[in-house]
Amino acid sequence: MRSIMKNSSNKCLSFQKHLVVILQAFKLFVISAIFTDAIIKAAQSVPFIPQDAITIDCGSSRNNTAFDLRSWSGDVNSSFFPIQGRNEASFASAVVWSYTLEEDPVPYGTARLSHSEFTYTIPVSTPGPKFIRFHFYSDVYQYFDPSKAVFSVKVGRFTLLSNFSVFLSAHARGRKGIVKEFYVPIEKSIVNITFTPESSVSEAFVLINGIEVVSTPADLYFRDYNDGKHGHVLVGQDSFYYLENDTSLETMYRINIGGKEVTPAEDTGIFRRWERDNIYLTIPGQSLVAANFISPHKFTAIPDYIAPVSVYETARTMGNDKQMNKKYNLTWEFPVDSGFYYMLRLHFCEILAEINNTGDRCFLIFISNETAEQEADVIYWSGGKYVPYFRDYVIAMFGQNGENILNLSLALEANPDDSLTMYSDAILNGAEIFKLNNSGGSLAGPDSDLSPQVPQPTEQHVMQKHGRTTITVTFSGKDFGVLFLFIICLLILRACCKVRKMKNLSGSSEETICRDLFHSRTPVSKQSAGVSSLPSDLCRNFSLAEIPAATNNFEDNSIGVGGFGHEYKGKINGGVTMVAVKRLKPRSSQGVQRVQDRDQMNLATSYADCREEANEPSRVGPFLSSREKT
Ligand SMILES: *[C@@H]1O[C@H](CO)[C@@H](O)[C@H](O)[C@H]1NC(C)=O
Ligand SMILES: *[C@@H]1O[C@H](CO)[C@@H](O)[C@H](O)[C@H]1NC(C)=O
Ligand SMILES: *[C@@H]1O[C@H](CO)[C@@H](O)[C@H](O)[C@H]1NC(C)=O
Ligand SMILES: *[C@@H]1O[C@H](CO)[C@@H](O)[C@H](O)[C@H]1NC(C)=O
Ligand SMILES: *[C@@H]1O[C@H](CO)[C@@H](O)[C@H](O)[C@H]1NC(C)=O
Ligand SMILES: *[C@@H]1O[C@H](CO)[C@@H](O)[C@H](O)[C@H]1NC(C)=O
Ligand SMILES: *[C@@H]1O[C@H](CO)[C@@H](O)[C@H](O)[C@H]1NC(C)=O
Repeated sequence: MRSIMKNSSNKCLSFQKHLVVILQAFKLFVISAIFTDAIIKAAQSVPFIPQDAITIDCGSSRNNTAFDLRSWSGDVNSSFFPIQGRNEASFASAVVWSYTLEEDPVPYGTARLSHSEFTYTIPVSTPGPKFIRFHFYSDVYQYFDPSKAVFSVKVGRFTLLSNFSVFLSAHARGRKGIVKEFYVPIEKSIVNITFTPESSVSEAFVLINGIEVVSTPADLYFRDYNDGKHGHVLVGQDSFYYLENDTSLETMYRINIGGKEVTPAEDTGIFRRWERDNIYLTIPGQSLVAANFISPHKFTAIPDYIAPVSVYETARTMGNDKQMNKKYNLTWEFPVDSGFYYMLRLHFCEILAEINNTGDRCFLIFISNETAEQEADVIYWSGGKYVPYFRDYVIAMFGQNGENILNLSLALEANPDDSLTMYSDAILNGAEIFKLNNSGGSLAGPDSDLSPQVPQPTEQHVMQKHGRTTITVTFSGKDFGVLFLFIICLLILRACCKVRKMKNLSGSSEETICRDLFHSRTPVSKQSAGVSSLPSDLCRNFSLAEIPAATNNFEDNSIGVGGFGHEYKGKINGGVTMVAVKRLKPRSSQGVQRVQDRDQMNLATSYADCREEANEPSRVGPFLSSREKT
């Protein structure tokens, strides 16, 4: 009897090993599939190569490659993390249910945890401003209660985070993986990052999954006023604001207006992520998305590392109806913490064929209802068509009534005076919003992540009617290849699971892994992991053609962004059933295309979520990958 049990548990182990091998083989395959793309990208030299681009995979004992091919160094026994003194108190751990990771396992699959303070010591080649990014993944690690991950983070004189709860931040965003980005002037050739558990929370601990330190050009966000440059326009006050390199910034928002998400690997070499603007657009009016991917963009007015070309290739304009344009302000709103100054950088590039000269399109810009520009004229500023340009503004956000969260609004108004402009219209290509540290050197406020999300407007993504370019969605042959192999992999895995199921009736852990792999989301709680409550008759097969049909070709109905791509609203069963469709990001190597059940929207449900009990042939949802082409 005993020997039979032992035998069975050996089999379990060997099954787990097989699963891991297959998964890793799949990861390798996908990496090689996207490798060609990456090589091509790397060959197109990036505008800036940082001297320091340090990536630390916390809690890992070896060097790992992420899906975007960036290499991350494990911190166990590394020089970043001298094992001495108080640092011994911290230790490495992996996410308990690592097969259900919603994010890249590098760096999100492993973490460093500690009930007491510890410090990373990271040598850099030169002093100067650096991006410091923290990656957190809110999940179960050993016996730790995820809600107790509350701590502060300090770098030199600056408090970057204070009483920061990974769990609450992740919860507010509806995803487990979060990134906090800071821009910190570093005075020495060393960066000391100190993590301290929050003393006011019992059993608080520090949780950190990944750290990046990336150097940037010194003039990326700071100006050298010795050159006779004037300060930033201080909006709403008749003065300038001198933003100097004694101040740290926290990135609040970075938006590619009218365009797609730009991933860190597609940035100018400094690994910034640019989001889409949809969810922040509160008064879209008749606005149009303008795009011009063809004309060569000439960086004659600003350095080419300021923002990637893809930011300047797309924009939002007010519309083609002159009278309508005068009736509304094209408005975005961004929730921010009150009690701080904010720096806004607006990116412009004139990309419309009909606009050729100064005076053709002259408009107004308001920031928080204060006039920031009375005569915004992109061609006048930049010196020509297709020439990228940016303007910086600083605004004080101090609430009148003690609110913790304020809306920072950005509004464009068509010029009401026809004699001042040929076209009654406005244009914006990109925006970045940074919080500036207060006089005490702190960036920590009541966490604006915890505010309710800006509600989604009913927006029409109308393409520029007379535009020269339209965005088309195509499926390349290689994507189909990846799809095909992925399906084969999953079929093999499912077959394995079935065999296991028959052999093992006791419901042991590897069966759970098996299920986790095929079921969409796993609850944070360990006990309920892998238990799906979906009725098996909801399982359904979809053809590749059905998905674009159900979602109107992914137009007009994005309902959110997840770890692997955008989610779209769609209808199936002849329009009777509402579904959510997740579309993988271009080159995203992970993830099964799946429809998720969203209770709050009364949606049904998950076609890749078939259970073994369904007693049907294995079914896997179509795996769509698409890219936007010129
Ligand atoms: C990881 O890479 C770093 C350099 O990037 C190297 O110094 C270190 O020895 C590597 N560690 C391991 C375990 O291979
Ligand atoms: C700030 O800039 C000045 C010159 O513009 C430079 O000498 C100094 O080292 C810089 N400080 C930091 C922290 O980058
Ligand atoms: C930290 O935040 C928690 C809520 O997340 C709050 O209850 C607690 O009072 C805060 N502690 C301090 C010192 O602000
Ligand atoms: C700008 O130039 C294009 C062709 O180069 C022309 O079709 C268009 O009418 C011009 N627009 C104005 C306002 O002159
Ligand atoms: C646009 O916003 C400004 C500032 O809030 C306001 O004065 C102006 O009337 C608005 N214009 C329109 C057309 O709503
Ligand atoms: C911000 O604006 C949104 C939409 O206009 C609104 O729902 C929300 O209550 C505002 N938040 C604050 C703090 O004013
Ligand atoms: C940011 O903090 C530093 C260090 O405390 C301080 O010298 C600087 O003036 C602060 N910046 C602002 C804008 O208050």
